[in-house]
Amino acid sequence: MEQRVPLAVSWHDGATILLDQRLLPHETRYVTITTVAGMATAIRDMVVRGAPAIGVAAAYGMAIAHSNGDDILAARSALEASRPTAKDLFTAVDRVAAAWKVGGNVLDEAHAFAADTEAACRRIGEFGAELIPEGARVLTHCNAGALATVYWGTALSPIRVAHLMGKMPFVFVDETRPRNQGSRLTSWELMEEGIDHAIIADNAAGHFMARGGIDLVITGADRIAMNGDSANKIGTYEKAVLARENGIPFYVAAPSSTFDPSAPTGGDIPIEERGEEEVLWCGGSRMAPEGARARNPAFDVTPARYIRAFITERGVLKPSEVRRTFGRDIRVT
Ligand code: MRU
Repeated sequence: MEQRVPLAVSWHDGATILLDQRLLPHETRYVTITTVAGMATAIRDMVVRGAPAIGVAAAYGMAIAHSNGDDILAARSALEASRPTAKDLFTAVDRVAAAWKVGGNVLDEAHAFAADTEAACRRIGEFGAELIPEGARVLTHCNAGALATVYWGTALSPIRVAHLMGKMPFVFVDETRPRNQGSRLTSWELMEEGIDHAIIADNAAGHFMARGGIDLVITGADRIAMNGDSANKIGTYEKAVLARENGIPFYVAAPSSTFDPSAPTGGDIPIEERGEEEVLWCGGSRMAPEGARARNPAFDVTPARYIRAFITERGVLKPSEVRRTFGRDIRVT
């Protein structure tokens, strides 16, 4: 299927091309990355964001390091220091470092990671679409679509496939303060694909759930612990609690690169805290009195007990099946 959303990350002529997601939906501009430092900054500043897309960008960052003659392990450390929560980044650089260590082709490995990510997301769509009834109203949080991956998306992939099947899903899109990934990015993707949706304020989900307006919730994840606790964009946890309170199934869609064999529980997941200006300002305007302070955790952890199932490329799994399916650490030093 031809997708209408442009690629978030691609490789062209010895460089990585990133769609600058900070400018969407108003402007479609690309940034060319030719150094490891440039890639680490682009990830930190969220030119590219979303766990699988960050992973693919980091894999290409390793390829850039190799072609520039940089120290590969130093490049890995620099990329790992850019954003701490998305496991896919660490999975990607480990995989490329492992290939390099045995004399493999670093760029080929980065391309293979990108191709595997795309294939995984497509499978997630196929498995997940089965969970979406005809005409279902689906709530999602943040952006876990094509922009956050390589085509398809994670949480949006089942919705896309259900749409293609003619099931006519309707999507409630949390705006997702402070960076508005829902209203800026998810809505833009859904507009491009012609999928019916409405943006809601972050604090409106309970209202719609309590009135029977939402049939299921699907979110992505940034890192999933072996007991099924899952980190995702700040605000996900409260949506899961609300879903439980209202008897609504809550699903987490993610590829195997997001599962962390070295994290037994959610307490072992590092949570990024970003600058307070993201909370104090919105759309170029200051939203708070001069001198006011803010806190800005970028992610929260949803305990496994609130998650009905994980939608992965290996099928739909219960939280109790995570450890036996993904409990293997491949880190290379
Ligand atoms: O801070 P972001 O925009 O990188 O956060 C993204 C999310 O939380 C997504 O839901 C998650 O990475 C899954 S993306 C398929």
